[in-house]
Amino acid sequence: MTTQPPSTAGVTQHRALVTDLPGPRSRALMERKTAAVAAGVGTTMPVFAARAGGGVVVDVDGNHLIDLGSGIAVTTVGNSAPRVVEAVQQQVAAFTHTCFMVTPYDGYVAVAEALNRLTPGDHAKRTALFNSGAEAVENAVKIARVATGKDAVVVFDHAYHGRTNLTMAMTAKNMPYKHGFGPFAPEVYRAPLSYPFRDGKEVDGQAAAARALDVVEKQVGAENLAAVVIEPIQGEGGFIEPATGFLPALAAWCRANDVVLVADEVQTGFARTGDLFACDHEGVVPDLIVTAKGIAGGLPLSAVTGRAELMDAVHAGGLGGTYGGNPLACAAALAAIETIEAEDLVGRAREVERLMKDRLHRLQADDARIGDVRGRGAMIAVELVEPGTTTPDPVLTRELAAAAHRAGVIVLTCGTYGNVLRFLPPLAIGDDLLHEALDVLADLLAGTR
Ligand SMILES: Cc1ncc(COP(=O)(O)O)c(C=O)c1O
Repeated sequence: MTTQPPSTAGVTQHRALVTDLPGPRSRALMERKTAAVAAGVGTTMPVFAARAGGGVVVDVDGNHLIDLGSGIAVTTVGNSAPRVVEAVQQQVAAFTHTCFMVTPYDGYVAVAEALNRLTPGDHAKRTALFNSGAEAVENAVKIARVATGKDAVVVFDHAYHGRTNLTMAMTAKNMPYKHGFGPFAPEVYRAPLSYPFRDGKEVDGQAAAARALDVVEKQVGAENLAAVVIEPIQGEGGFIEPATGFLPALAAWCRANDVVLVADEVQTGFARTGDLFACDHEGVVPDLIVTAKGIAGGLPLSAVTGRAELMDAVHAGGLGGTYGGNPLACAAALAAIETIEAEDLVGRAREVERLMKDRLHRLQADDARIGDVRGRGAMIAVELVEPGTTTPDPVLTRELAAAAHRAGVIVLTCGTYGNVLRFLPPLAIGDDLLHEALDVLADLLAGTR
């Protein structure tokens, strides 16, 4: 078992509070933020970061916080991971930007080669690089539409795909992502997901897929449908893992009906779930896979990777953007991928799952407010409910998260009902910090009974 985190970027690996949270410097910065930054840009914690590495974020007052958020699943290899820092430093000294569409460079090609090699399936593939997850999801839809000559897109209940106009249409939850921002892009249809905790744990994935596909066939029609877009484990929607058999059944239906299966692995990709990609768990091979977040150790980069014949169906010049595949982000991505492979972070994610689930299941055995413990790898969540029911308890969830923050543990919430506490530690975190964070959570739960 790994106990010593490999990449801590010189940050002492402990939790230590030297002020109340937020401390005076964070409070002063928050006043400046309120006066200067648009009110719509919220923050989970009122604490400003100064340094970060391993499993710790240090704030501007010198408090050391345990990081169970990874900047929303981004710093999987750790913050300022040494290989990433070195690669970016070398690249920034060579050139910062030429635009790949003007004078290309080899880092972009190397990232495309790596993604073609690592993503599920051994068919011929191509990759295109972008900046954000939402931008890559939009491009996957563009590619699927051109390749199939069809318009419609199917997404699922609880889905989150981003905040651009098309991806807002694809995202399920109104507040805060969509409210007041419409009208949204047309030809987006929503199908029911497999949600074992709410469907009854015994639900059969194939039966759930049949239910979803019936809706698709009756309300959309395969002859109109370009793509089915799905997160193999939903992120913002509540870390919902469909029942076994659901994804393979969708994939088989898509294949039989000339519909492009797009896996949105923006949150689940790059070792996060204890496989390199969450689709690997059931051997599902999507036609297109969208990646971002963990791909580049904190630099903005996203990608669409997929079957060569689909990707190459788009006319020359049809894909791109000024910054897509920026050289610094590409250098970071190559270093992040090297780190994942050299440090066996897929294996580390499985260890994190064992440790966290063992502790959380023990808490659940004692506390009926923990309705469900779920997720894979270092993407673990608890769903909080009124005891003995499936009625969501968003108030307890908010209170627990706020108390954890005050105690120096960064946790995030999610879920359509706002009642899911989610844990996304960087894989550079040590077991001791994970245990300490879970001790804090256990104490907080005990204190709210
Ligand atoms: C599954 C999924 N898709 C897309 C996105 C959008 O990514 P970005 O915020 O980089 O646009 C996210 C972000 O949380 C996500 O989790």
